[in-house]
Amino acid sequence: MIKNIRKARISDAKQIQSLINFYAAKDLMISRSLNEIYENMRDFWVCEENRKIIGCCGLHIVGWENLAEIKSLAVEKTKHNKGIGRKLVEICLQEAKELKLKKVFALTYSPGFFRKSGFKKISKSKLPHKIWAECCNCPKFPGCEEEAMIKNI
Ligand SMILES: CC(C)(COP(=O)(O)OP(=O)(O)OC[C@H]1O[C@@H](n2cnc3c(N)ncnc32)[C@H](O)[C@@H]1OP(=O)(O)O)[C@@H](O)C(=O)NCCC(=O)NCCS
Repeated sequence: MIKNIRKARISDAKQIQSLINFYAAKDLMISRSLNEIYENMRDFWVCEENRKIIGCCGLHIVGWENLAEIKSLAVEKTKHNKGIGRKLVEICLQEAKELKLKKVFALTYSPGFFRKSGFKKISKSKLPHKIWAECCNCPKFPGCEEEAMIKNI
């Protein structure tokens, strides 16, 4: 039973960062500075259990093409396979719908997870160039094997 998924608050920033950076240290995600998390706080949803943040996910609007990106999706290791990741993505998709966005994409090493939420593989070259600004700063660029997954809203 998933208890509490809610919009993130400023006081969640450090817990969100440690969740993301746990996986970033394993090369599964891009690390985030506290400053980035504070500045993008309104993108984030979190799952809270006993006052602890056990999952997070951001919906970030990209440019002016009715497009948004699912970013920084992470669920605490001991809480995997309980439907928390799916629920976080669902709530971001719902938010995208309310914002009248047309498409949501994710860059991910877990395409199978996104497939289960109705996303389809797309060539990265079909995504707007704007997204490469972040990729250019990544140590893996240009040899990264993340896959692009997209869903129509
Ligand atoms: C990917 C991640 C967020 C999934 O969270 P989760 O809460 O364990 O996922 P859920 O329990 O909601 O899973 C939903 C479905 O996807 C499946 N699934 C979960 N992780 C999967 C993966 N890595 N690959 C394929 N399928 C996956 C589940 O088995 C479940 O399938 P079902 O509906 O048939 O039962 C979590 O494993 C995680 O934090 N991974 C490390 C960070 C990461 O890779 N983030 C993604 C970056 S974009």
